[in-house]
Amino acid sequence: MKRISVLIVDDISDTRESIRRLLQFEDDIEVVGEVGSGSEAIRFAEEKRPDIILMDINMPEMDGIRATELIAQRVPGCSVIIMSVQGEQAYLRRAMMAGAREYIVKPFSGDELASVVAKVYDMDRQKKEAMGEQPKVTVDPIKRNGEIISFFSTKGGVGKTTLATNLAVQLASTGKWKVLLIDLNLQFGDVAVFLNLVPKRSIADLTESGPIEYSEIQSYFLTHSSGLQVLAAPTRPEYAELVTASHVEQILSEVRSKFDFIICDNVSRFEEVSLATFDIATQIWLVVAMDVPTLKNAKLSLEVIEGLHHTSKVQVVLNRTSKEMGMDPREVEKSLNHKISYEIPSDGRALVAALNQGVPFVTSYPQSKASEAIRTMAGKLISSEIVQTKLALKDQGRGSISPFKGLRRVFGF
Ligand SMILES: Nc1ncnc2c1ncn2[C@@H]1O[C@H](COP(=O)(O)OP(=O)(O)OP(=O)(O)O)[C@@H](O)[C@H]1O
Ligand SMILES: [Mg+2]
Repeated sequence: MKRISVLIVDDISDTRESIRRLLQFEDDIEVVGEVGSGSEAIRFAEEKRPDIILMDINMPEMDGIRATELIAQRVPGCSVIIMSVQGEQAYLRRAMMAGAREYIVKPFSGDELASVVAKVYDMDRQKKEAMGEQPKVTVDPIKRNGEIISFFSTKGGVGKTTLATNLAVQLASTGKWKVLLIDLNLQFGDVAVFLNLVPKRSIADLTESGPIEYSEIQSYFLTHSSGLQVLAAPTRPEYAELVTASHVEQILSEVRSKFDFIICDNVSRFEEVSLATFDIATQIWLVVAMDVPTLKNAKLSLEVIEGLHHTSKVQVVLNRTSKEMGMDPREVEKSLNHKISYEIPSDGRALVAALNQGVPFVTSYPQSKASEAIRTMAGKLISSEIVQTKLALKDQGRGSISPFKGLRRVFGF
């Protein structure tokens, strides 16, 4: 007999442990995982698709209600049961509206918990059968599971915006991928200037009403001639504080299923918004230059990122390489104790001219060394294992050609 798979979500590890113990003697229930935050719960649900999720309400970073809402949208086959304490009635109403199937008030016994889990599982299975569906939800073929790349550096002016805009345009201009570039340099963002776009409304205006939904976000996009979509930074520095980490989390969660690549351009410091992008991002691109102060700070950043358990997402991008720098990229790797994933040569002439024209250099100076490096970067990104798996799933759904075949056509290998 199939056992009911259960995920436990609570930020306190002792509580998770006691819930696991309550369920350990239930023959028809199997605890398949436990996580400590809303965002981890979403990731787990998307990957493992448990039948039931036992969700705490109050958790730092992303609370159980928001997590429930996102799970209900993205993984409708998982049923959420909220675990609340007395006095959280107002939250409970919100949780049920967010898509929770049931709630149970703490403290509860093993019997009570097992019977709620079994009841919700049976009800949902009957409902699915009545609707003629299989109990397990299959992957929605048209839904994308966008690769989110967060560009970061600890020193300003190392080339984050230059690389983020050119990479985004390169990917979009092939016509094969849906690409979104989000300017999260909220005070002095210049993505729109780099692309010669005029923002009428920006990310700050999006935060004026309640929950942010995709249909609304979409109306704020600027479209670049390459096909790239851009969500611009606020038009004035004083509007920056209107945008919080929670807004950015909501925006990223909403756009993720609509794009193949979502590229975030950050400020050069650890703060609420950049840290929020690190949590949701699938890759963090740390841009470094070949000078001693930048490298010293990059080393410190890698330590902070390690402390946040995001090391596996980090790709180091070495910008402005030049033989005249008196430093070899291999020395940089040694000093950072981290592999360099991408190298972009210094190419002042093409870059400044492109910037002044408001045309990305990959378009205006395609023959330049920097453009060549961006094309290599895009090719390497697309052929990376993680991206290939996602694209293969997407293409399978569309019944189109294999992604490798497409790649060969686009990049000529
Ligand atoms: N590979 C390169 N070769 C030559 N010049 C470059 C290169 N990359 C970036 N630059 C130049 O460096 C300057 C700063 O770049 P950019 O604005 O992209 O940095 P940033 O990291 O986004 O800065 P900030 O932290 O202020 O947002 C620009 O004038 C850009 O043209
Ligand atoms: Mg910048």
